[in-house]
Amino acid sequence: MRISVIGTGYLGATHAACMAELGFEVLGLDIDPAKVEALTRGKLPFYEPGLPELLIKHVQSGRLRFTTSYEEVGAWADVHFIGVGTPQKPGESAADLRFVDASVTSLARHITRDALIVGKSTVPVGTAARLRDLLAATRTEAGPDGRGLPGDVELAWNPEFLREGYAVKDTLTPDRLVVGVESAHAEQVLRQVYAKSLTEDTPWIATDFETAELVKVAANAFLATKISFINAFSEITETVGGDIGTLADAIGHDPRIGRKFLNAGVGFGGGCLPKDIRALQARVSELGLDRTMRFLAEMDDINLRRRDRVVDLAVQILSHHRHGQARTAGATGTAGAAGPGTTGTGAVPSPAAVEVLNGSKVALLGVTFKPHSDDVRDSPALDVANRLFTAGADVAVYDPQGNANAAKRFPRLDYVDTLEKALVGADLVILLTEWDEFRQMDPEYVGRLVDQKLLIDGRNVLDRTAWQAAGFTHAALGHRFSPGHPTAHPGPARGS
Ligand code: UDX
Repeated sequence: MRISVIGTGYLGATHAACMAELGFEVLGLDIDPAKVEALTRGKLPFYEPGLPELLIKHVQSGRLRFTTSYEEVGAWADVHFIGVGTPQKPGESAADLRFVDASVTSLARHITRDALIVGKSTVPVGTAARLRDLLAATRTEAGPDGRGLPGDVELAWNPEFLREGYAVKDTLTPDRLVVGVESAHAEQVLRQVYAKSLTEDTPWIATDFETAELVKVAANAFLATKISFINAFSEITETVGGDIGTLADAIGHDPRIGRKFLNAGVGFGGGCLPKDIRALQARVSELGLDRTMRFLAEMDDINLRRRDRVVDLAVQILSHHRHGQARTAGATGTAGAAGPGTTGTGAVPSPAAVEVLNGSKVALLGVTFKPHSDDVRDSPALDVANRLFTAGADVAVYDPQGNANAAKRFPRLDYVDTLEKALVGADLVILLTEWDEFRQMDPEYVGRLVDQKLLIDGRNVLDRTAWQAAGFTHAALGHRFSPGHPTAHPGPARGS
């Protein structure tokens, strides 16, 4: 079976390399000739553990090739996967479907044989049905004398659940496979594609288009809600006291709840969760169900408020160090309600924040939206870095993989290429992405590099007792800031 993958971004490049690994001949298509040229040389334009090795292996074996030509893929492949982006529309909550529409239209005009088109991109419910009709209409129009183009071409939808940092594993050994199909033939073809997973008893869910589309957004909405749920409790423990990690562990022991995705911190970001919960709200509003997903606006808001909280904590910890008293209220203009088009970036610092932060040297550890990725899309860490900079702080940013992407977005921050360079002379250390390099920092060593032993743990991964023993004032999200009063029960170090 010959497989084409349309779009060679994060999803498409991973899918193409993994399909080759499964033994198929694969042709990846991108409209960007520079991307195609780089991939053909075995060069990946982003960081993803394990993927470069697969790419090189299969480019060299000849099983994986890349092209810019729809004509070529249309005449060649049996199955065409669509893995193009569906970003948030600028200034709106809704998803921008123009790349998906363009790829279906282009395929429709160029396929000259029997084929199955399989959408993998995350789309609003109802899109697959619309694209099925678009496909049929385009092929009829494109044929000579209205007789249509040769070949039976069908559409299916097969949402992708891969996590950045684990993309190869998630593609080769998925938790479950969901396919939205309209014929037994389409299901049969997809069973052949995923035959290896099926022999390993991976759950196989064959359903209609709408369910397949909704499974993806429901999963992401649920995950975002779980994170914001624990972060809402952080606002309580920050006020009244208590240990957010212990609370998460305790409720997580209930198998109905589970401990995963209950890690309190600076919140979720990335190319999926934020835009998907916004697109879902936009879609249900279009369907006249305005109230149905209203709670997701609240989840978005809780998530964005975490960024305000980090800036607030920075103001508190620095002012307490200087004057023996923590300034609190209103460090930033709050993120406010997550209205249409909100990306959560760029909250305006309050005069109090500017007064305290101006000229302070901050070592900012981590700018990617999560570890094992170089992705800074909607990254809470990068947003906080920018807010501190806007308030006048001198921000030295270090991330093991994310500096280059972050610098494209916010070129005026001071990016350094080692952890030590960020720490030397710092007034305040803020950890915002939980890379192993940061988790494993030795508090004594860090204490010798910085000017002031002040620390904010924005991901709850550092051992409070050890850092306090090394003389640090330790503040963390989900914990009441009480300098000079070590927590009696610091709680166990958090798992991942
Ligand atoms: C997500 C989904 O997990 C994946 O199934 C889907 O296909 C795409 O979106 P990804 O964007 O790679 O994947 O990131 P994920 O691992 O889900 O993390 C999302 C964000 O939530 C990160 O910013 C992470 O730091 C944050 N997070 C995660 C928390 O703040 N707390 C947690 O407990 C877990």
